[in-house]
Amino acid sequence: MYTQSKILKIVNEYISELSYAHAPNSLYDPVKYVLSLGGKRIRPVLMLMAYNLYKENVAEILSPAAGLEIYHNFTLLHDDLMDKADMRRKKPTVHKVWDDNTAILSGDAMLILSYHYVSECSSSYLKDVLNTFTQAALEVCDGQQYDMDFEHRNDVKEDEYLEMIRLKTSVLLAAALKMGAQLAGASVEDARNLYDFGENIGIAFQLKDDLLDVYGDPKVFGKNIGGDILCNKKTYMLMKALERADKEQAAALQGWLDKVNFEPKEKIREVTALYNQIGVKLVCEDLMRKYYAKGLESLSLVSVAEETKRELRAVAEHLMYREM
Ligand code: IPE
Ligand code: IPE
Ligand code: MG
Ligand code: MG
Ligand code: MG
Repeated sequence: MYTQSKILKIVNEYISELSYAHAPNSLYDPVKYVLSLGGKRIRPVLMLMAYNLYKENVAEILSPAAGLEIYHNFTLLHDDLMDKADMRRKKPTVHKVWDDNTAILSGDAMLILSYHYVSECSSSYLKDVLNTFTQAALEVCDGQQYDMDFEHRNDVKEDEYLEMIRLKTSVLLAAALKMGAQLAGASVEDARNLYDFGENIGIAFQLKDDLLDVYGDPKVFGKNIGGDILCNKKTYMLMKALERADKEQAAALQGWLDKVNFEPKEKIREVTALYNQIGVKLVCEDLMRKYYAKGLESLSLVSVAEETKRELRAVAEHLMYREM
């Protein structure tokens, strides 16, 4: 069994040695840039860890694992453009260092590269793995579209929000685990339970991301704080704030949602103050813990020795208490 930190090291080394770049540099430099900034690499790590529940030779599946990370990084290039985000992984985003067109086309190239690397796996599992990957990859787009649509709605319901974050974020963590299981030749039941584990901790993961977007330390989180507030993102905290506000708080909150011209710092400060008054942080943390616990239940159904799952449980816990 590999530890989580050993697997992360193997993944990072492999990604740093990939050779995809050729002319024009203006297309591939941004790819190298974003991939060199690291990040948590949680998706390839989960994939290798799921595989490692059954098999020891994790190096066998580094190519599809890297493909998954390249896919994730592609979504970040486009997401930062869509969210008007200037900082990621403590550095300026691709559309800031270069421009919008670069973020679009380098992102497109990364999506294609991701398929190239994912398909470099054992031919006996290729069809299953590509099915899992393609379904998740398309669902991420579905989720991203809901996320954008919801910016313009003030009547988003809890179940709509949960479905949106399931699609935009958690299916990819779930697919990472399922692909690892599929490549190891695990049973269909195990692959499904690992998927469910990923889906539940993925929802908790996005709830935590939304929390950090308001309450994180930008030096650790690596992204600007308050981006979701500026875009009127329908996060769980905003939905709960709208639902639980008294008359005065509701009017103030609605005022900020409707305002077209504002000082960004002021909007972030005032909306955060309303969140604090209404007490939505704890409500969000409660839901996060609920999904985390649900995830652990799914993991407990996977038919390998409990002891073998220790590292995966540690990763899930680490994600809940992370500050980045
Ligand atoms: C950011 O993903 C996008 C979300 C789904 C919240 P990560 O939080 O995994 O970002 P990195 O890869 O570690 O930078
Ligand atoms: C991102 O959600 C989901 C995807 C990138 C698909 P966010 O927009 O919350 O992610 P961050 O906060 O920018 O990393
Ligand atoms: Mg974003
Ligand atoms: Mg987004
Ligand atoms: Mg976010």
